Amino acid sequence: MAQLWGGRFTKETDQLVYNFNASISFDQKFYKQDIEGSMAHVCMLGRQGILTQEEMQAIVKTLGEIQKDVEEGRLVITDAYEDIHSFVEAVLIERLGDTGKKLHTGRSRNDQVALDMRLYTRLELLYTDVLLKELLKVLLRIMEEHVDTIMPGFTHLQKAQPVTLAHHMGAYFEMFKRDRLRLCDIYRRMNYCPLGAGALAGTTYPLDREYTAKLLGFYGPTLNSMDSVSDRDYLIEFLSALSTIMMHLSRFSEEIILWNSNEYRFVEIDDAYSTGSSIMPQKKNPDIAELARGKTGRVYGALVSLLTTMKGIPLAYNKDMQEDKELTFDAMDTVKGCLALFTGMLDTMTFCREAMEKSAAHGFTNATDAADYLVNHGVPFRDAHGIVGRLVLYCIDKGAAIDELSLEELRSISPVFKEDIFEAVSLKTCVDKRLTLGAPGREAMEQVIAMEREYLAEEWQNEEAKNFVKFAE
Ligand code: ARG
Repeated sequence: MAQLWGGRFTKETDQLVYNFNASISFDQKFYKQDIEGSMAHVCMLGRQGILTQEEMQAIVKTLGEIQKDVEEGRLVITDAYEDIHSFVEAVLIERLGDTGKKLHTGRSRNDQVALDMRLYTRLELLYTDVLLKELLKVLLRIMEEHVDTIMPGFTHLQKAQPVTLAHHMGAYFEMFKRDRLRLCDIYRRMNYCPLGAGALAGTTYPLDREYTAKLLGFYGPTLNSMDSVSDRDYLIEFLSALSTIMMHLSRFSEEIILWNSNEYRFVEIDDAYSTGSSIMPQKKNPDIAELARGKTGRVYGALVSLLTTMKGIPLAYNKDMQEDKELTFDAMDTVKGCLALFTGMLDTMTFCREAMEKSAAHGFTNATDAADYLVNHGVPFRDAHGIVGRLVLYCIDKGAAIDELSLEELRSISPVFKEDIFEAVSLKTCVDKRLTLGAPGREAMEQVIAMEREYLAEEWQNEEAKNFVKFAE
């Protein structure tokens, strides 16, 4: 048991209490951020004359060595320490003696952990964004290749109107694009530095909080020391954004599972991204999509868990907040894993144009267009709707599609139908006439694809977002 406190205690901590209280098994995940934060703190202490230049240099140098030793396996983080903060400080003191004991001047573990978690989350947010961008690139490629691949569009999971694969993929493009914007937004709100808040009420040392904030790539320091040590809003926002990403991935997974089934056969998942059955030799299962759908619950769980943890905590820091870590780390890793694998699966998937077009050709996806034809020839829409309803009934009875009937049969239902009805209800016409912005018609689709291409090429839309990516590099 090694801890940073003990002066006012007359008894040893009970071993079970120690174990229950310790966080090193999971907070060692941000040892780099802990060291980075300490370096910035010490540089500021030196600049303010709170430490001498020699002390500052010695501490920064040794912290760098500690980091390198951990990275290269010469120094192992053990659970003999309560948390990562204690571990780093103890090793520093071991190596530097009394100078090392000055590291924690003007700082508390409360502002320290608030900083570490913020630095770690900021980086995770950037990784997630990079993965989202990779997914968008694959989606755009599929959109470019499938502007003419006709498939049924569904409502209520019933065939509704013909669309294209490009259009269907475009819907997911919009969702993941919004997910990126959400991350950028969160970044803007969270990128303020809590260091210098002390335990809760600031410190009596002349700290330069602006300076540490700048060193660590923040826009500036936070403005209330009690809020600084007890704010976990940014984690809740991030978990909410991660949950939304998972909700999108899960909907997409559900469609791919359906499309990959024998009943649809719209897609074939690459062998490298499918699994088999131990008993049924014919099986090729969409496990990646199923896992992405399944893991969504776990990420939602982290969000609800943290919201619940935070709801009754009085100001300022309370130990409950230590519970912010494990579930959040798990959610971050889960989403990164799902995004990377889903993108690989999508990138290697085969789309079966024929099956999609065949499916669109059966199921009366052109019924609305048949009604529109009548409207264009002077029939009021409500009457046209009724006529085409009867036409569909006739077709079902005959086991034929609308465009498989003869002109005589069509005219027996409405004399308004002329030879050009066949052209009007061909799937290609049905799709290509849908030219409002955002619709699947070729011209409209190409206009949107050009905009999305520009969006991906432009990289970042504004100045703030540019800093955001600079930090990731
Ligand atoms: N392990 C703690 C956490 O994660 C660090 C802060 C400890 N502060 C304290 N006052 N005990 O929240």
